[in-house]
Amino acid sequence: PAGLPAGAPVTVTVTGAAGQIGYALLFRIASGHLLGPDVPVRLRLLEVPQAVKAAEGTAMELDDCAFPLLTGIDIHDDATAAFDGVNVALLVGARPRGAGMERGDLLSANGGIFGPQGAAINAGAAQDVRVLVVGNPANTNAWIAAQHAPDVPKDRFTAMTRLDHNRAVAQLAARTGAGVEDIARLTIWGNHSATQYPDLSHATVRGTPALEVVDDEAWVRDTFIPTVAKRGAAIIEARGASSAASAANAALDHVRTWVTGTPADDWTSAGVVSDGSYGVPEGLISSFPVIARDGELSIVPDLEIDDFSRARIDASVAELVEERDAVRALGLV
Ligand code: NAD
Ligand code: LMR
Repeated sequence: PAGLPAGAPVTVTVTGAAGQIGYALLFRIASGHLLGPDVPVRLRLLEVPQAVKAAEGTAMELDDCAFPLLTGIDIHDDATAAFDGVNVALLVGARPRGAGMERGDLLSANGGIFGPQGAAINAGAAQDVRVLVVGNPANTNAWIAAQHAPDVPKDRFTAMTRLDHNRAVAQLAARTGAGVEDIARLTIWGNHSATQYPDLSHATVRGTPALEVVDDEAWVRDTFIPTVAKRGAAIIEARGASSAASAANAALDHVRTWVTGTPADDWTSAGVVSDGSYGVPEGLISSFPVIARDGELSIVPDLEIDDFSRARIDASVAELVEERDAVRALGLV
């Protein structure tokens, strides 16, 4: 794949390796679902000291799978060591919101995690490093990490909205009776939160505009958008735990698309640094329609944005601005 070291194993660092997403993710990375069936990988797992033992247990199980592509596993409780030479960094470990915690408490706890991890990436990552932040609040955590990595191009820091994108594809397929592979050009805009905007206005179903196929504005506004935006909460309610296998799957999709490219007539959604496109303040990490070519991500230009979409995008971006300002006020960057 584009931009990966040819022949040599690719170093993949996973933080929060002993968590539930980690458990759903590591075995698929080691079996070739991140970078393809021909790319050997070396895993570095980062955990907090009290979870290192559990990570060792997972590493034992990885050994026991005898995966031909897995050339080694190291376990760390120190970010500098964990990101040394990293090519692909999956930042999954984050402090979940606990009872009585305010938003500011969460941002401050995560600033304490993602600032030092950004600095460690800056210090030791490979030239071609690609970073995906999964841990919530993913967009702002990615922004914090990027601020602490001045020597790494900002476009290497991304936040995961591929899960939202996949959820939206699945909902539209179910509604229209199409296969998921028949759906293209769907977009998640903004923050990976309930304010996100899943946008069907450019989407197609077997090449026909999705809004024509659906032909039901109320369904789009009152069912589709809230179902996708609140799916994380619905999963928590149903499982008693937040999404794990689907989140791990989306992380694999995000990185694989980044290195292998988007299809010619389609795009994906990812939280990437804004270049000011679509009125999103430059520097914010916001979800956009994104194409991947030659190992680089770029924002799809010049889409027409109608008034409904404009208001939805603005609302989610306003939340990102608030999060960024709160992080600045807390002195975390
Ligand atoms: P989890 O609690 O099961 O696991 C998190 C792990 O991170 C724990 O093992 C913990 O010890 C570890 N951790 C905490 N601080 C760390 C640090 N400084 N360094 C390394 N590891 C650290 O949680 P999970 O279900 O695996 O979810 C992980 C994160 O992903 C959460 O923030 C969750 O909200 C988020 N998430 C995001 C999406 C998305 O679409 N972007 C989807 C699902 C979940
Ligand atoms: C999700 O989208 O499933 C996760 O971000 C979990 C959550 O808190 O919504």
